[in-house]
Amino acid sequence: MCGIVGYIGTKRAYPILIKGLQRLEYRGYDSAGVAMISETGSLNVYKAKGKVSDLEAFCQEKDITGCAGIAHTRWATHGEPNSTNAHPHYSASGRLALIHNGIIENYLTLKEKLIERGIQFRSVTDSEVLVQLVEYIMQNNGIELLEAVQVALHQVIGAYAIAILDREHPDTIICARQSSPLVVGLGDDGAFYLASDASPIAEYTDKVVYLNDGDIAVLQLGKELKVVNMDNETQHPKVKQIDVTLGQLEKGGYPYFMLKEIFEQPGCLRDCMRGRINVDADRITLSAVIDYREKLVSARRIIIVACGTSWHAGLIGKQLFESLCRIPVEVEYASEFRYRDPVIYPDDVVVAISQSGETADTLAAIELARKAGAFVFGVCNAIGASIPRQTSTGVYIHVGPEIGVASTKAFTGQVTVLSMLALCIANERRTIPGEQYKEMVKELTQIPDKMEQALKTNEQIERLAPIFTYAKNCLYLGRGYNFPVALEGALKLKEISYIHAEGYPAAEMKHGPIALIDSEMPVFVIATRDRLYEKVISNIQEVRARGGRVTALVTEGDTQIQKFADHIITLPDTLECFQPLIASIPLQLLAYHIAVCKGKDVDRPRNLAKSVTVE
Ligand code: AGP
Ligand code: GLU
Repeated sequence: MCGIVGYIGTKRAYPILIKGLQRLEYRGYDSAGVAMISETGSLNVYKAKGKVSDLEAFCQEKDITGCAGIAHTRWATHGEPNSTNAHPHYSASGRLALIHNGIIENYLTLKEKLIERGIQFRSVTDSEVLVQLVEYIMQNNGIELLEAVQVALHQVIGAYAIAILDREHPDTIICARQSSPLVVGLGDDGAFYLASDASPIAEYTDKVVYLNDGDIAVLQLGKELKVVNMDNETQHPKVKQIDVTLGQLEKGGYPYFMLKEIFEQPGCLRDCMRGRINVDADRITLSAVIDYREKLVSARRIIIVACGTSWHAGLIGKQLFESLCRIPVEVEYASEFRYRDPVIYPDDVVVAISQSGETADTLAAIELARKAGAFVFGVCNAIGASIPRQTSTGVYIHVGPEIGVASTKAFTGQVTVLSMLALCIANERRTIPGEQYKEMVKELTQIPDKMEQALKTNEQIERLAPIFTYAKNCLYLGRGYNFPVALEGALKLKEISYIHAEGYPAAEMKHGPIALIDSEMPVFVIATRDRLYEKVISNIQEVRARGGRVTALVTEGDTQIQKFADHIITLPDTLECFQPLIASIPLQLLAYHIAVCKGKDVDRPRNLAKSVTVE
């Protein structure tokens, strides 16, 4: 689920491991640990509940020597977050130490068998089973670590990225992956770096190998990287160049990554459109649409699968594809879709949306769609992640690494890609007139400038935020394209300020939530000028009549709504279908400033993980 770091080389491992864990902190975790083979040959494991800084404090008086080590941030799935359950886990004899991200589904059966054979467990995690099983196989069969790992993994069902240190072989780390990401960095001096993603590796080398499912890698100092599978067949993964610069990973002067990422959005959307929309701003070219034109143009139906914020982007995609391409669209929570035995036709196009590209439920939904013979299209941010590798084709959103746990720029990037995709397909299907297509493409290229204007509301929102910090509940209302914006605005507030919030289609309010409205309940209404503008005004009146406090997002030049609203936030005008790209900005800022006022850790909200690689 969370983070893995490893190093074997000629330098001291400890500082590299700690820095690596810090770079992975954005993923969200509850405890951390490190294992190193010291100068005197002992295998030392140190673990602490809480942050990486707690681990550092714990290690202060300890032996942190040695040039080989592995480190871990845990996001507990089996057993409470405490230092015993934190990784690395020792084997029974203390010869091996293992870290694991993921879930071992058959751990109980394996554990019972090992207990029968006299092995004692220290933690209640599923992960400890792996290290005990590997050592048991080594001892029982008199074989070395690599072979024992191969035998053990044949017995394991589940998702894992693992790394193992062996006290008897201080020059080697063995690691393996199945449905959980793992990257090996190749240092110029023969050293190896290991991590769950490239961010901890980027400052040491730009040469990386992304391991594939089923790969087992042997990182032996001074030797070539060896990759085999469980049956000991040699694998030949490609060495790739990292495309993440370190500058991109820093906060760039902002107090939090989230604020930096909110402000980056105009630039991110320009990057997202770069090379795809021509300089005359009248044509969109997506190579995936050229390569798979027939599949996309003749789709009988589009099924969008995603989770969380990406699912909200999918709801906007539905409206775009239906109105522009006249293709029916269903938007599914990946976690529901995968277990529902859904009807999938071979001429369906399944669009999987994911920032991280590693979300377990979305990956499972893709697998299901593939098996049913559907064409699977990925919309992803993380380059080389599992989703882009497991889809037939797709479009990267290219907004750079998103570090804040609450997604912001990835959301607007996803909506931009979906807009470009819908326009491309609509143009190919001739479902919109050529003139309209051109006007819409032109307008899309204006969005980054309009976002810059929308970002100017920051100061006003910062001033307003303290008013809302005492709220227990908030309601977000919007209609049409702005309904998913309301859902996303509410999710942002919940995630980082821990205030309960609901997003509702404005007209649906009178069928229930209206009962909640009183003078204590802030109501945020997206009331930009579009087809449903007058209707939204009526919905605002309904709130006002019950004493509700309304903050309205309105289009510049609006003079009507200020008569009824307590607060007005003014936004630039755009086409209705692109309004979510503008209207999301003040809602992201609002959530951010409310959370900051409440003293919350905006980038690492409690209980949340950036990359949800377990179901
Ligand atoms: C967004 O703010 C959330 N942290 C979460 O809902 C997220 O969007 C969801 O987990 C999906 O992640 P993905 O886009 O990486 O697949
Ligand atoms: N399932 C393991 C545990 O609960 C690993 C969790 C993780 O991926 O961090 O310890």
